[in-house]
Amino acid sequence: MVETSASRESLLNVGSDVLLLIVHPEKISSTEQAVDEMLGGMIARRRGAERLRTGRGEVTSFYSSRESGPDRVTLVGIGENEMDALQLRRTIATVVRSLIEEKVTEIAAALEVPGFTEDSLPAIVEGCLLGGYTFEGYKKPDENGVPTGLRRLTVGHCGADGDMPVDDVLLHQSTVLALATCAARDLGNEPANVLTPRVFAERAVEMSGAHGLEHRVYDEHALEDAGLGLLLGVARGSEEPARVIEMVYANGDGEVPTLVLIGKGLTFDSGGISIKGAEGMHEMKHDMGGAAAVYGAMMAIAQLQPTGIRVVGLIGAVENMPDGRALKPGDVLTACDGTSVEVINTDAEGRLVLGDLVAHAVAHHDPDWIVDAATLTGAVMVALGDQAAGVVSSDDALYRAIERAGRRAGERFWQLPAYEDYREQLKSKIADLKNSGSRHAGAITGGLFIGAFRGERPWAHLDIAGVAWTDKAKALAPVGATGFAVRSLALLPGVLNEDEH
Ligand code: BES
Ligand code: MN
Ligand code: ZN
Repeated sequence: MVETSASRESLLNVGSDVLLLIVHPEKISSTEQAVDEMLGGMIARRRGAERLRTGRGEVTSFYSSRESGPDRVTLVGIGENEMDALQLRRTIATVVRSLIEEKVTEIAAALEVPGFTEDSLPAIVEGCLLGGYTFEGYKKPDENGVPTGLRRLTVGHCGADGDMPVDDVLLHQSTVLALATCAARDLGNEPANVLTPRVFAERAVEMSGAHGLEHRVYDEHALEDAGLGLLLGVARGSEEPARVIEMVYANGDGEVPTLVLIGKGLTFDSGGISIKGAEGMHEMKHDMGGAAAVYGAMMAIAQLQPTGIRVVGLIGAVENMPDGRALKPGDVLTACDGTSVEVINTDAEGRLVLGDLVAHAVAHHDPDWIVDAATLTGAVMVALGDQAAGVVSSDDALYRAIERAGRRAGERFWQLPAYEDYREQLKSKIADLKNSGSRHAGAITGGLFIGAFRGERPWAHLDIAGVAWTDKAKALAPVGATGFAVRSLALLPGVLNEDEH
């Protein structure tokens, strides 16, 4: 776990492995002056000789010989051109990642960023915490026995501004958002033999208890009683029983609107009888990225406490396996709202789980908005790659709110057209719907299948298949689960409230 705090005194007096300081090609901050004084003028001499590296992301380190304070000062160039908050987050995160690889565990970061017009705090805190994330994993302890990963982050000021106060509310918000993202990454990085649906439920109960969320777990009997035939159909082929986890956050007197967040939690997706190829199948342990996002968002919402809204988080935790009792192509299942579905492809299982949960939410939670998040299709990766989540929505205002929350969170969403005409592909000869169409517009038809259960409520579907997992290190995330959508979903209640006015 990382501890984050604000320093009430100059960071030059705070013990740390590294003091991070942003430097500009021309503008010399008061922080830089103070650090330079501590270093006996080394920075100024380099500047004088035009040898200070100040281009975007360029790094120079100096070691301090003082007994107290930082052991080392790392200067990070911000470059000539103005950066936006996402670029600053990424720049900081990249530097922190390389520091972590050098076994740095305690970082002090100066908040003064010359030439940056927005508030730098969220970018610096989120950049450090997300860039400093490591998954503990299952290796034997490191030879040197030194724990890796960021353990302590202190933010503050130095020099003339040394005792300037830090915005505690913003520090709290950024810390909560980043740590909830890391919690979602932890879940996503767990192998499927560890994170089974039952274990997922246990972890969600633990988290809900710790943060004061009301919660309930549906076991296989409760799911049977609730009539979730599509979800149970997917679970049939697995020895691991399915679980649905419900978490509720409520704040506000009397009548407040309800936002329901629903996450696809396939703890493993082998494809079932329509089995996948061997290549890359191990990555399907991460077919619960949508559920991890809902888990993380609920964790953050419980701490940030947005007012005037009720938020219900629903996680459908299921394992999709081939077996003698498994769902077969051609089988017909019935959802909790009575809709019959012909299963053409058992590998199109996410939409079965989510469709049932959307219908369940409509029947039991009277939602004003429904948002589902899922690693739903390979097709969305063909369309958007790893740069944005695809969105299928019935409601433009809801889509715009998601996009706005995403901009604040540093996450990109892109709307796909949701023309009714695409639903032609989901027509079955013998049932109300079939679960897969042609390869064309696969991300859209997958989304529209889920939307068929929304009962005319405003709904949006986030297909995060391309962004929830990365097989090469990105600036803000190492290889593995990224925790995508945690921060946007956590900020959505606030944005929806703004829209109401
Ligand atoms: N979980 C997969 C989608 C996926 C693929 C996520 C790759 C992340 C990386 C989903 O359940 C699936 O198998 N989708 C099928 C749907 C098809 C059978 C209609 C797909 O996209 O091929
Ligand atoms: Mn599948
Ligand atoms: Zn899947």
